Order: sequence, then structure tokens, then C-alpha cells
Amino acid sequence: MGNLYGVIGCPIKHSMSPDIHNDAFQDLGIEGYYHAFHVEPTQLAETVDALKVLGVKGFNVTIPHKVAIIPFLDELDETARIVGAVNTVVNVNGRLVGHNTDGNGYIESLTKVLKKPIQEHKMLIIGAGGAARGIYYTLAYRGCQEIDICNRTISKAEELIEQCQFANNSQALSIEAAQQQLGDYDIIIQTTAVGLHPNIEDKPLLLKNAKHTAVVSDIVYNPIKTALLKEAEELGLTTHDGVGMFVYQGALAFELWTKQKPSAERMTAIVYNKLG
Ligand code: ATR
Repeated sequence: MGNLYGVIGCPIKHSMSPDIHNDAFQDLGIEGYYHAFHVEPTQLAETVDALKVLGVKGFNVTIPHKVAIIPFLDELDETARIVGAVNTVVNVNGRLVGHNTDGNGYIESLTKVLKKPIQEHKMLIIGAGGAARGIYYTLAYRGCQEIDICNRTISKAEELIEQCQFANNSQALSIEAAQQQLGDYDIIIQTTAVGLHPNIEDKPLLLKNAKHTAVVSDIVYNPIKTALLKEAEELGLTTHDGVGMFVYQGALAFELWTKQKPSAERMTAIVYNKLG
């Protein structure tokens, strides 16, 4: 066996990361193997030590360990430090360095459906949890100036904005208020679990007030076409599904580990084949 990579999470059984990474190793002729490890929160510290001792070259970190892993790492890169969460670890000569490719992966994939630089769009983020934080901090860090956040619990949206050192011009809103003023936004980013399998008919809000040029992005990818994206399509809006974020966070992690760019198209096809 060549170099070992993997992902730690709980639950992890349905992760598609092994599929996309193992295919990329094969495609690029790199000797590598990527495995999904089920790790309970109580086992996190010993698992990180074990992966280090075994000389694992790199691994992804997913729910619920993205924040909890930080004390067990030797170093954080700038993005992981800003977001306060890690989704990718690189073993650099025995030192474990934490990165976060979620926000940049998301932006890279979203950019593909935009006609102008991302900084020229007014955005609404729906949700104020961990996923929203990664996206919001990365967008703000990359110079996006007008990003509002709406959430069922407004105080969490307020906190997110207050804690972000790059925030500028952001407003925290109730879902109802956001729905009323939806016509203000060029991009609407759905980051909550609303619409996730099995509650596939659920939507966090209605899109009828949206601009006809709006892009509607949903980070949920199971199902790929959420009820929100279906409504967006019916209204003739541009849609962006959650497969892109998953693929590009993985592609950026792969590049950190191997210094080679995998084919995002191959990765996307694998996910669509499995879920579509
Ligand atoms: P993640 O890491 O996936 O973002 P999280 O940190 O638990 O998960 O955040 C979940 C987000 O989904 C929150 O914004 C949450 O809203 P609250 O802060 O009000 O709890 C939102 N969410 C979850 N279920 C929801 C529902 N049924 N309706 C509206 N928002 C919901």
C-alpha cells in the first residue's frame, strides 16, 4: 500500500470522500489509499495520535469533529484559524497542520455559475450554524462586503456577524424579514439542514420575492435537488447545488496533500452517479 489518507467523522458510513479521492489517486497514477474511519467524540484525541504515529499523510475531518480537533493539532493555517474549524489535516514531517477548504471550495464552485466577480454581489445567507460560519467568514475575508444573515434564532446570526473580524455592512434578520426583502439579493445561500433527506419537501423560505437574476445556492446535496432549488428552477432562477461544495473542498484537500490538482469533473460525475 502507498500513502494512507482518510476521513474521520461520526456518522461516516455514507461518506463519498473515499470514492472521489481513491478515483483521483488512480486517475493521476499516485500511490495512495483513502479510508473512512468512524470515530466517536470520546475517541478523538487517541485517534489523532494514532493517525500521527501510523504516518498517515493527511486526513479530512467532518461532523462532529471540525472544531473539537483543534487542540490536538500542531498548527493551523490562516483559513482554519479565521473560521475556527478544520476540515483537512496535512502531516508535514510528523507535524499535523489543520486547514479549512470548505469555504474556499464553496466559493470556487459557486464562482462557476456567476457572471461577475463574487465581490460584486449582495448576498443572503440562510442559517447561522457551523456551515454558515465557514462560508460567511471566507466570503468576508475574500472581500465580499454585503452579506446579510437570516436565521430562525436571530441572536445566532447577530453573534456570527459580531465575531467576524472582516464583517462589513452585514445585517442579521429574521427569516420572515429576509423573505420580505429577498429582492435585494443577487445570491441566496441556504446552509441549514432544512430540506435534507428525509424531509425533502421542507424549505427555509419562499422565493417568490427574489430577483429574476438571482442565484440560489443550497449546500444540501442529499437530495441534490432540494425543494428550494426546485422552486428556484420553476421561477427561472439560476441554481447551484451542494455537490459543488463537496467536490471542491475535496479537490482542494487533495491538492494540499499531493500538490496535484485532481479532476473536479470526474469527482462531480462520481457524486452524481451515486446520488442522482
Ligand atoms: P451545521 O454545522 O450543519 O451548520 P448547526 O451548527 O447545528 O449545523 O446549524 C444548523 C442551522 O440550521 C442553524 O442555523 C439552525 O437554526 P437555529 O440557529 O435557529 O437552530 C438551522 N435549522 C435547523 N433546523 C431548522 C429548521 N427546522 N428550521 C429553520 N432553521 C433550522
